[in-house]
Amino acid sequence: MSEIRTEEWVATVPLADLARRRKTRVEIGDRAVALFLVGERVFALDDVCIHKGRSLSRGVLWQGSVVCPAHQWKFDPETGAAEDRDECQPVHAVRVVDGIVHVSAQPR
Ligand code: FES
Repeated sequence: MSEIRTEEWVATVPLADLARRRKTRVEIGDRAVALFLVGERVFALDDVCIHKGRSLSRGVLWQGSVVCPAHQWKFDPETGAAEDRDECQPVHAVRVVDGIVHVSAQPR
């Protein structure tokens, strides 16, 4: 019997708030997630950097990449792929419903 995995969506912040700050950190259960607004799109990555655990939401967006504040690893906000490395930051699906950013509780 195959298991059907249902996606659990969690309402986080108003898109208007994110539009002002361009990035923020939210808690989803016991998981911290960094939200970034890039152009018109919202991306969600685990906040805890896969390198040494610093907070990506304290980083910056630079040339379309999320740059970790600690050692400047650069991540593609859509895929989580680390530039020039064979590693990936977990990313979460995002959708905006009635002006509220909803994030999938589990990474893709
Ligand atoms: S902790 Fe993020 S690059 Fe080192």
